[in-house]
Amino acid sequence: MALRHLSVKTLFFLGLCQVGRRGFASSPEVREAPKKIAIIGGGIGGTAAGFFLRQEFGPAVKIDVFEAGTVGGRLATENIGGHEYETGGSVIHPLNLHMKHFLDKLSLSPRADVSSKVAIFDGKELTFEESDWFIVNFIRMLWRYGFNSIRMHMWVEGILDKFMRIYQYQQYGYSFSSVEKLLHAMGGDGFLTLFNQTLEEAMLAEGFSQVFLNDVVTPVTRVNYGQSVQISAFAGAVALAGADSGLWAVDGGNKMVCSGLLYHSKAELVPARATTISMKMRPSKTGTVHLEHYNSASNFYEVNYVGESGAAHSMYDIVVVATPLHQGMSDISFSGFSPPIPSHFPGRYHQTVATLVHGLLNVSYLGTTEKPEDFYVSEVLTLENKASEINSLSSLNPVKIPKGYSPSPASQRKVWKIFSSQPLSQQHLQQIFLSWDSVFEKRWLAYPSYSPPNRRTPPFILHDRLYYLNAVEWAASAMEMSAISARNLALLAHHRWYEQTDKINQEDLDTRLRGEL
Ligand SMILES: Cc1cc2nc3c(=O)[nH]c(=O)nc-3n(C[C@H](O)[C@H](O)[C@H](O)COP(=O)(O)OP(=O)(O)OC[C@H]3O[C@@H](n4cnc5c(N)ncnc54)[C@H](O)[C@@H]3O)c2cc1C
Ligand SMILES: *[C@@H]1O[C@H](CO)[C@@H](O)[C@H](O)[C@H]1NC(C)=O
Ligand SMILES: *[C@@H]1O[C@H](CO)[C@@H](O)[C@H](O)[C@H]1NC(C)=O
Repeated sequence: MALRHLSVKTLFFLGLCQVGRRGFASSPEVREAPKKIAIIGGGIGGTAAGFFLRQEFGPAVKIDVFEAGTVGGRLATENIGGHEYETGGSVIHPLNLHMKHFLDKLSLSPRADVSSKVAIFDGKELTFEESDWFIVNFIRMLWRYGFNSIRMHMWVEGILDKFMRIYQYQQYGYSFSSVEKLLHAMGGDGFLTLFNQTLEEAMLAEGFSQVFLNDVVTPVTRVNYGQSVQISAFAGAVALAGADSGLWAVDGGNKMVCSGLLYHSKAELVPARATTISMKMRPSKTGTVHLEHYNSASNFYEVNYVGESGAAHSMYDIVVVATPLHQGMSDISFSGFSPPIPSHFPGRYHQTVATLVHGLLNVSYLGTTEKPEDFYVSEVLTLENKASEINSLSSLNPVKIPKGYSPSPASQRKVWKIFSSQPLSQQHLQQIFLSWDSVFEKRWLAYPSYSPPNRRTPPFILHDRLYYLNAVEWAASAMEMSAISARNLALLAHHRWYEQTDKINQEDLDTRLRGEL
């Protein structure tokens, strides 16, 4: 289905982006450097924040990363029959430049490529099955949907072209104080509209047909966000880019990027759950608090946490919250802030259950008459209707591809992953599989439940020097989005600390920077 080609312009631009890092930012020494920074959460967002904060603030600052669970967060693997398989975030787009850069820095490599084949299932039968021949797929799509499919790639590419501007802005040290401002800097009012309308509204307005939306676009939003075309058009475009060709994963598992970043940034991992973040006034030399001379440098943040050895607390100059502040994701209370900061922001996270089954597929479940030994489909996407209770069914490759590995047909026992919004019953598994020897289930609160318009997006800045990385997920949730937010917050924290306001929320950066090139 994927037939996107990168423009030469884009590739050239990427080359430019990744040469000549800014190094430690020039800090006009009007103010002492911060001494201690806390990051709450050791997923890709928190560990990337550690990496970029180290880059901005230099080697002296102490950086602590609090992680209550496992480093990697929503990037996780499970061992099945001696091999590890991704259970959470799995694929990375070829134009995700921060993720690529991390791999280079950490001497990790992309996993070897294994060919894949897509089909679409309506709950009874396969309505589309990818052929090995590009031209056959192309003609089929053209026959059924006219130019919709070609135009879709152009539409997504147009959005991606604008999206790519963020890398240049960040390279020049520019940062943004809210999700809306970040989106506006990339794609102007057009991006804010995409953020505030449904994918369906946006695509119908662009002249795509309802049939195409139902048959082709919905299966993609279902596999990537577990939701329909009622998600925001911006998240939808990110989901559609996630159906491009050239997607990759990290050799050995995506979560290795997180542990690598943690190590590289020389941050200290604190294996504990942060419970409360409070604002405290720093007492003056005489031991009194001078309220009349109140300035932001005189307060600090106290992080209370519970680890294996009990409860403790530490003081920090800067804190980055890198976990969603939502029910079921984290329960951090904020004390001493005015206006108060809630533990949970409005909106909820969508449940996606990942069920990994090592077994034999019943190909008849898919309504196909093909013989299992000839059935090589590896990705089954689904239409939205009552008959399809699953969002997707895919054959997984291990995080490390063994030598001589090749895709096997459905007649062989292998690891399948099903995404569904509800856990699958034994009975349901019996319909899909002839037999199995292991079942692993992980219930994720995976990504926001998107329902535009967005009345209020959570802020990046919770308080003076207290930042919230996962606000970005309300634009779209992806590893790269967390990495972009991490870089943005490191720059923002730096500029606000040193009062370099000319690097925050600048308008018309695209035109201005084009002049500089
Ligand atoms: C099933 C699934 C499939 C996905 N597929 C893709 C994909 O193919 N491609 C893609 O790019 N993205 C995908 N995503 C999205 C991607 O995984 C997330 O956007 C990304 O991993 C979020 O990273 P994060 O660091 O911001 O948050 P998280 O990974 O959630 O990290 C937050 C961390 O904070 C910790 N924490 C929470 N509260 C506290 C506390 N009080 N104290 C200390 N620690 C705390 C948590 O334990 C967690 O480790 C998928 C997600 C899921 C669930
Ligand atoms: C395989 O699936 C088909 C169609 O759902 C069903 O009729 C058949 O009984 C299943 N086979 C087994 C062995 O369960
Ligand atoms: C989105 O729409 C809502 C309601 O119509 C409005 O309040 C909000 O300001 C809009 N947000 C953006 C970013 O345009």
